[in-house]
Amino acid sequence: MGEGISDYTRFAVDLRRQMWMAGVEEELRRLIWQIAVTGKYISAKIHESNRKLAGFKNVYGEEQLSLDRSSDEIMKNQLQFSGFVREYASEEQDAVVMLGKGREKYFVTADPLDGSSLVDTNLAIGTIIGIHKESIFSRGRDSMVAALYITYGPLITMVYSAGKGAHEFVLNREGEYVLSQEHIMLEERGSIYSPGGLRKDCIEKHVRFLEYLEAEGYKLRYSGGFVPDINQVLIKRGGIFTYPALKKSPRGKLRLLFELQPMAFIIEQAGGIATDGKEEILSVRVEDLEQRCPIYIGSRFEVEKAMEFLAAGS
Ligand code: AHG
Ligand code: MN
Ligand code: MN
Repeated sequence: MGEGISDYTRFAVDLRRQMWMAGVEEELRRLIWQIAVTGKYISAKIHESNRKLAGFKNVYGEEQLSLDRSSDEIMKNQLQFSGFVREYASEEQDAVVMLGKGREKYFVTADPLDGSSLVDTNLAIGTIIGIHKESIFSRGRDSMVAALYITYGPLITMVYSAGKGAHEFVLNREGEYVLSQEHIMLEERGSIYSPGGLRKDCIEKHVRFLEYLEAEGYKLRYSGGFVPDINQVLIKRGGIFTYPALKKSPRGKLRLLFELQPMAFIIEQAGGIATDGKEEILSVRVEDLEQRCPIYIGSRFEVEKAMEFLAAGS
């Protein structure tokens, strides 16, 4: 055993080295690194979290756990002094926050803590980040340069893409993010489905699609946490996550800017696709911070099959 460093990490590739070898440009490497490190502070907050409601309401009118707010404060404060971030938009902020002097290179979107309602059940939750090179009020395909998510589960893992593939890292006991899977690629089709929303609230065509998947023997995998549910599709190399249009809310539940764009960026880099049922998520123009979209995201076969069912008879 080396001087306190386990053999496991001696020959391992850590996050900074992998990004350098992948040719990620320097400032973006430093920003991704900074955000990944912030995940450690958020994880510490989760571990010490009190479970009383903060009594605050975020823009979506949802009761907000104090953990959501403190995670957002941690992320904002870390980015404020990074020197790379001009604007910060977060699920927990009412408006875009100017973080820099106006000349910094990047615009960051954050769902600082996704799945906070699961904290008391000890199920996995996550942080979702989008990194843009220009105004976020655009199409993701034009503005995004990178995306990452951190999964706070039995292990803390981080998946990022800077447009050169999707890669997974595990936080080891030395507190380093060590490469576990590089260039993750989805198969043409998978064997799991993650169906958000209540069936009784879903439109007929969507229910037909779910019944098709069940008849085909797909296994239901749904935790209620977007990050671990999507992560399962990626790590199992296929399948589909959907949170569809509902009769009472045709735009579905998940937020385009904070949740769907970053995951669409990563899943596309892994050879999958992400649509709102008609249009690719990264082609949808962001009009406002609260914009929601139905989502079908995962391996090609299942997402294209979903679009067939939704288009049938129209
Ligand atoms: P958040 O905790 O950031 O508000 O997100 C919760 C989201 C997402 O994690 C998940 O996919 C979805 O809520 C689950 O919704 P249901 O409880 O309706 O299944
Ligand atoms: Mn969320
Ligand atoms: Mn959230």
